[in-house]
Amino acid sequence: EQQAIDSLFLVNQFAQEFFQTQLFDTDKGRSIGLSYFKQRGFREETLKKFGLGFAQNDMDALLRAGKLRGYNAELLKKLGLVTQYERDFFRDRVMFSIHNLTGKVIAFAGRIMAKDPKQPKYINSPETEIYYKSKVLYGIFFAKKAIRQFDECLLVEGYTDVISLHQAGIENVVASSGTALTPDQIRLIKRFTNNIKIIYDGDAAGIKAALRGLDLALAEDMNVRLVLLPDGEDPDSYIQKVGSEAFLLYLKEKGKDIVQFETELLLKEAGDDPTRRAGVLGQIANTISKIKNPLRRDEYVKVTRQVLGVDEGRMIFEINKLLRRDL
Ligand code: GTP
Ligand code: MN
Ligand code: MN
Ligand code: MN
Ligand code: MN
Repeated sequence: EQQAIDSLFLVNQFAQEFFQTQLFDTDKGRSIGLSYFKQRGFREETLKKFGLGFAQNDMDALLRAGKLRGYNAELLKKLGLVTQYERDFFRDRVMFSIHNLTGKVIAFAGRIMAKDPKQPKYINSPETEIYYKSKVLYGIFFAKKAIRQFDECLLVEGYTDVISLHQAGIENVVASSGTALTPDQIRLIKRFTNNIKIIYDGDAAGIKAALRGLDLALAEDMNVRLVLLPDGEDPDSYIQKVGSEAFLLYLKEKGKDIVQFETELLLKEAGDDPTRRAGVLGQIANTISKIKNPLRRDEYVKVTRQVLGVDEGRMIFEINKLLRRDL
């Protein structure tokens, strides 16, 4: 069993090296893949550190190289690197390696280089015995030391966001890879810090995604702050535009406690409608009721009741009602 698992890691390591060799040491790799990454502002040392690579437009380049190494097609299929029709799964894409907490390659993502409405921008390895999507945070291996050191984890959406921030010297950053945070991901972060700063797009989808993981994080007694970027920017595009100093200043100035953020957002949406404003009280009471630590609940009551303009007793009454219901 362990032997079978080890061979999966081994083959993924081989595939990472293969994609890297394709990127740096072949004409096509250099002229297509490497120039794509360079045009996005990624330096060679960065590409090497994160195990980025290139899959050429070839039916079975990886399959053939694997066979030469003595890896049979079944093993490659098991990892999703080769399809059931014995063709390379990743073709004509730049490649991102996904590492686990100890730095082993557990999966890959491949990105198309030119916009193509007929194809997904990213494709990913399927789930395997060594890759459970809901448990993985992209970049955690490279970030864990800095997360501990700064006692804070920055959470972004995408692979390239993690890579760009790293390259700019901000290393305490991981990506949820486009999905809402899962309980396992929150627990993974909690091994290193209780403080999360979510950095998402300022558009409606970004805000929704940030709020979706909130109750879970609060239930784990994490402190969650939210930073919304200017519309149309993601962390990668924004840091490449303004540089790391201005980026860090922006985080500092715009970071807001996420419960407070939710309160203000809901109030804004409710407008002057008294029924809807009353509903907001219930919603925020519900959010606060997820917090296990009673002292932290008290702190949040103090902050949010002011924003809501209700007295403390009313707020506590609403929360206690919900807490009793949850028993
Ligand atoms: P770039 O366009 O290369 O800068 O990537 P991005 O990270 O900015 O992409 P985007 O903001 O659109 O999406 C954020 C993350 O969601 C990506 O990094 C991926 O992990 C994931 N994602 C986006 N599009 C797709 C897709 O078409 N398929 C899959 N499986 N994941 C995607
Ligand atoms: Mn997208
Ligand atoms: Mn968006
Ligand atoms: Mn993005
Ligand atoms: Mn991007």
